[in-house]
Amino acid sequence: MEGRRVDKVERGTWGSRVGFLMAAAGSAIGLGNIWRFPYVTGQNGGAAFVLIYVAFVVLIGIPVMIAEFTIGRSTQKNPIGAFETLAPGSWWRWVGVLGVVTGIGILSFYSVVAGWTVGYFFKTLTGAFSHEIAGEESARIFGQFIGNPGVSIALLFAFIAITMYVVAGGIADGIERWSKVLMPVLFGILVLLAVYALTLEGASKGLEFYLKPDLSKVRAGTFAKALGQALFSLSLGMGTMITYGSYLSKKENLAVSAGYVALFDTVIALLAGLVIFPTLFAMGLNPAGGAGLVFVVLPTIFGKMPLGTVFGSLFFLLLALAALTSTISLLEVPVAYLVDEKRWPRRRAVLSMGTLAFVLGIPSALSQGAVSVLSALPRIGMGFLDLMNALFGNYSLSVGSLLIAIFVGYRWGVRNAVREIEQDGTRFALAAHWAFLVRFICPVAVAVILGYILLTGQYF
Ligand code: PHE
Repeated sequence: MEGRRVDKVERGTWGSRVGFLMAAAGSAIGLGNIWRFPYVTGQNGGAAFVLIYVAFVVLIGIPVMIAEFTIGRSTQKNPIGAFETLAPGSWWRWVGVLGVVTGIGILSFYSVVAGWTVGYFFKTLTGAFSHEIAGEESARIFGQFIGNPGVSIALLFAFIAITMYVVAGGIADGIERWSKVLMPVLFGILVLLAVYALTLEGASKGLEFYLKPDLSKVRAGTFAKALGQALFSLSLGMGTMITYGSYLSKKENLAVSAGYVALFDTVIALLAGLVIFPTLFAMGLNPAGGAGLVFVVLPTIFGKMPLGTVFGSLFFLLLALAALTSTISLLEVPVAYLVDEKRWPRRRAVLSMGTLAFVLGIPSALSQGAVSVLSALPRIGMGFLDLMNALFGNYSLSVGSLLIAIFVGYRWGVRNAVREIEQDGTRFALAAHWAFLVRFICPVAVAVILGYILLTGQYF
């Protein structure tokens, strides 16, 4: 008994209900919404993609999130330990292993982009965008910035170091405290930027691209990209939400929490699009411009709008902090595994996993022009960062979500899951709908998409 209590203290739990919700939303909201969503939408034809993305959030994202929370809270373990507990001695633990590996993989390239936001915060603050600049000029500044090997590696290092510092502090003090205040402020500033962007001349063309679906632009690949984006943005398919759920008390309403997290996350992404696309069209830039989109588009409005330097630097600062609450959740997955299963002290786990992610992040940092082989990989053609993003950020998460849905739907069983959700007198009114989505819609939809990609070989 005594031993158990000590264990609990070592693992930690959330300090409050809002704290958990904000931490889960903090994990979900990040570069996925503001950096990745607009550029993937731009590359995949706009409004039709957005429509499919939102459908996937509702039909696949929310059910899988409920499944992850439930597995986590029921076992109070990291992903590997959780599968081991619910299906002892089976190969299901490999789903957890995939999650831990994916966490480090995503953390590595994600921190490179997060480093760019820090760099852009300082650039904006020191007046780099205090005067009007044209789109090409902005693109040139960005290209030069990310092509500098020393700067990008230093920023990558700094970002991972800060993440490690927070994660080493443990759950309640570290993660919760940050998330609670920052997300609402980020929301406010996005609304402000969106309102301004909509007043720009030519904004309506952007709105049309973003909101008026042109179904002729939908390809099979569009579905795979929309699925990957939905899962990435909601932090699903690698056990982040299993891990966060494991620090949860039995009182929480898991289904309602998942609904809120998905709602906040989607609203922020849609809002980011509402800033980017009107501006982009007003400035005559290309929507399919790729991973630099946000960094190229936004500085063009900071120079125009009143107090642009203030809003611009505040924006990049908040974006960096939103990214931080996501990198924290990425690092927490491997760390929780080592603390729970290998009995490592938290600090040692943080130090080793953080270092690993840093080393793995270096080729991504160098893939933006600094080293030409990494910038366009032989045969594949894409750069190292883009490749990591596709492999870990799309496919790993899709495979992981497929397996999680199958696990809860058929192996552990929706009955057991619903019993866990309904503990402590909580009623799960939509239990039957959820069960249907988890057992049939999620696995079939994801399997069809992945199968199609495999058969046609259109991986990227
Ligand atoms: N959801 C985060 C974002 O949108 C990224 C993330 C993916 C975090 C997977 C954890 C796990 O920025």
